[in-house]
Amino acid sequence: MEEKVYIFRIKRFNPQSGPESYFQDFEIVLSEYERVLDGLLKIQSELDPSLAFRRSCAHGICGSCAMRINKKNRLACQTLVKELPKVITIEPLPGLPVIKDLVVDMDPFFEKIAEVMPYLINRDPPPERERLQRPEDQEKILEAITCILCGCCTTSCPVYQQSKDYIGPSALLRAYRFIFDTRDQAGKERLERITSKIGLFHCHSALKCLNACPKGIDLPAHIFKLKKLALKTAIRRKD
Ligand code: FES
Repeated sequence: MEEKVYIFRIKRFNPQSGPESYFQDFEIVLSEYERVLDGLLKIQSELDPSLAFRRSCAHGICGSCAMRINKKNRLACQTLVKELPKVITIEPLPGLPVIKDLVVDMDPFFEKIAEVMPYLINRDPPPERERLQRPEDQEKILEAITCILCGCCTTSCPVYQQSKDYIGPSALLRAYRFIFDTRDQAGKERLERITSKIGLFHCHSALKCLNACPKGIDLPAHIFKLKKLALKTAIRRKD
């Protein structure tokens, strides 16, 4: 297995040492099948145990290792070093307060998700077993369900970068997942929530979210369907 030397240029920040962030280089040897996460773990265990970053599953499921790698939001556990140049620049996700090094405060992101009520609402008495859904109806929300809430899309969105009050693509996708779920009964309320304030119609289709999603979800297509539904609902109300 081929091994190569990489320079990990990592943006460091420690609130206890001062308000300034700075870049620090670490030279490490990695095989072509290792990922950015493997490099970070190596640095933490062999060179600098104070390096802070998040990770949990290490398999692209939990979304906790999202960070900015060579100017693109990605999952560290899903990014092979062989796809990158020798110098790999690693920064925290943009637009969120940095707690330490690569660890950001995800609260502002999850507050937006909470606004769309990210849970099934059905006021009918529960059936004896589960609430059933036809396969063709499930198909409509299948892609949206694969979102792992890593924050890559929202933090890459130029509208979110300009206004932290903007709901963001991830919360819109979560709203879509329930609005188009045939078992859910709170679609109207969700639609009102995402169209009031700085919401759905502030999306300019910049498409940054499309390139940022590590799961390959077509966020703009889902947001477009939400816009269509919101417009139809508004016209129907006027009639
Ligand atoms: S550690 Fe879970 S997605 Fe990377």
